[in-house]
Amino acid sequence: MPEPAEHPAYPVGLRLSGRRVVVIGGGQVAQRRLPALVAAGADVVLVSPSATPSVEAMAEAGEIRWTRRRYEEGDLAESWYVLVATGDTEANARASAEAERSRIWCVRSDDAEAATAWTPATGRSEGVTVAVLTGRDPRRSAAVRDAIVEGLREGSIAAPHVRARTPSVALVGGGPGDPDLITVRGRRLLAEADVVIADRLGPRDLLDELPPHVEVIDAAKIPYGRFMAQEAINNALVEHAKAGRSVVRLKGGDPYVFGRGMEEAQALAEAGIPCTVVPGISSSISVPSAAGIPVTHRGVAHEFTVVSGHVAPDDPRSLVDWQSLARLRGTLVILMGVDKIGAIAAALVSHGKDPATRVALVQEGTTAAQRRVDATLATVAETVRAEEVRPPAVIVVGDVVGVGVPTLP
Ligand SMILES: C[S@@+](CC[C@H](N)C(=O)[O-])C[C@H]1O[C@@H](n2cnc3c(N)ncnc32)[C@H](O)[C@@H]1O
Repeated sequence: MPEPAEHPAYPVGLRLSGRRVVVIGGGQVAQRRLPALVAAGADVVLVSPSATPSVEAMAEAGEIRWTRRRYEEGDLAESWYVLVATGDTEANARASAEAERSRIWCVRSDDAEAATAWTPATGRSEGVTVAVLTGRDPRRSAAVRDAIVEGLREGSIAAPHVRARTPSVALVGGGPGDPDLITVRGRRLLAEADVVIADRLGPRDLLDELPPHVEVIDAAKIPYGRFMAQEAINNALVEHAKAGRSVVRLKGGDPYVFGRGMEEAQALAEAGIPCTVVPGISSSISVPSAAGIPVTHRGVAHEFTVVSGHVAPDDPRSLVDWQSLARLRGTLVILMGVDKIGAIAAALVSHGKDPATRVALVQEGTTAAQRRVDATLATVAETVRAEEVRPPAVIVVGDVVGVGVPTLP
C-alpha cells in the first residue's frame, strides 16, 4: 500500500456561505487567504493576538470576527474548515491536532505534510473558477493558474457557453487605439463575438486577429438610406442580435464619452435586447497621458473639464459655456476640436483667458502615428494650419501642458 501522501489530493469546491471557518494567526498568510473566504460568504473567526493592518481593517469593517488572543483548545468547535497560520509551530501543531480529532479539514501554512487540506492556486474569469494543485510546487500551481485565467480572459482558451445563447449585444469601449489599452473584459467579449461593428477610432488592430468566421462591419459604411447614420447602426445591432448572433459594438475610448453609447443602449432596450456595457479608457485622459501630459498635477490643476469642440462657440447648437470655462483655473480638454480650434481659442481669450495659456494638440494618441504639437491660445490656430494637425486629436489647454517629463512609449 503506498504512503497516503503519494495519492493525489481530491479536489472539491467548498460551499462555505454562512459556515464557520476559523483562521488561527493574523499575519501575511491570513491576509492573503481571508478575502477569498469572505467572498465565499464564510462566517470567519480570526484567532490571533495581533494582525496586519489589512486584516485589522477587515475586522473593523465587520467582514470577519476577531478574537484577540492566542489559540486555545476548543477554538475550532462548530467550525467546518480551519486555516492554521501562526508563526508558532507548537501552536500550529496543537490546533491541527484539534482539527484532526474533530474531523475538520485543516490547512497548515507551516507544514503541508501535516495538513489535511491544501489551498489550490485559484483564479476567476466570468463565472469560471480555476483551481490548480501541483503537489508541493506552489509556483507551478500559480503559473498554470495564470496561464488558464489569462487564456480565458483574452479568449485564447475557448470556453463557450453550452446553453442556448439569448440574443445580446456588448457595447465595448476599446480605449484610445493601442490594442493593449482595451480592457480584459472587452478583449474577451471580442474574442467570443460572431459580429463586430467597429468605429474608425479605437483598437482597429484587434480586428485583424479575429477568426475568419467573424463578420466585421465598419460602422461608417453601414448604408443608411432614409435613416440617420446612427439609426442605421442601431438597426444593425438589433437585427444581428435578433438573428441569434453574439454582437460586439466596438467603440473608441469609453462608450459614454461623446460616444453615443446610450443611444445604442436605448435602441436595444426598446427592441427588448439585453445589452452589456464595457467601460473603456477614454482618449480625454489617456491621450494626454500618452503624450506626457497629466490632466491634473499637484499645485497646478485641481480640476479638469472635458468638452466637445465639434461646434463653434457662437453656434446656437453649442451647449458649452465657454465664458465660464475661460474663468476656470484648471485644465480644459477638448475633443473633436481641431476644425474649430481658432474660434474656440478666440472665445476663451475674449472671455478673459490669458493668450499665453499653453495648449497641446495630441494627434492619433497611443498609436504608432502619435504626434504632439505645442502652442498657446494666441498661436494655436496658425500652428494647427502650419503643422497640418488633423483629427483625431485631443487638445489640452492649461498649465499642465508644461509640467510633463519624458516617458517611455
Ligand atoms: C466621437 S469622440 C469619441 C471619444 C471616445 N468615446 C473617448 O472616450 O475617447 C472622437 C474624438 O475623440 C478624440 N480621440 C479619440 N481617440 C483619439 C486618439 N487616439 N488620439 C487623439 N484623439 C482621439 C478626438 O478628439 C476625436 O475627435
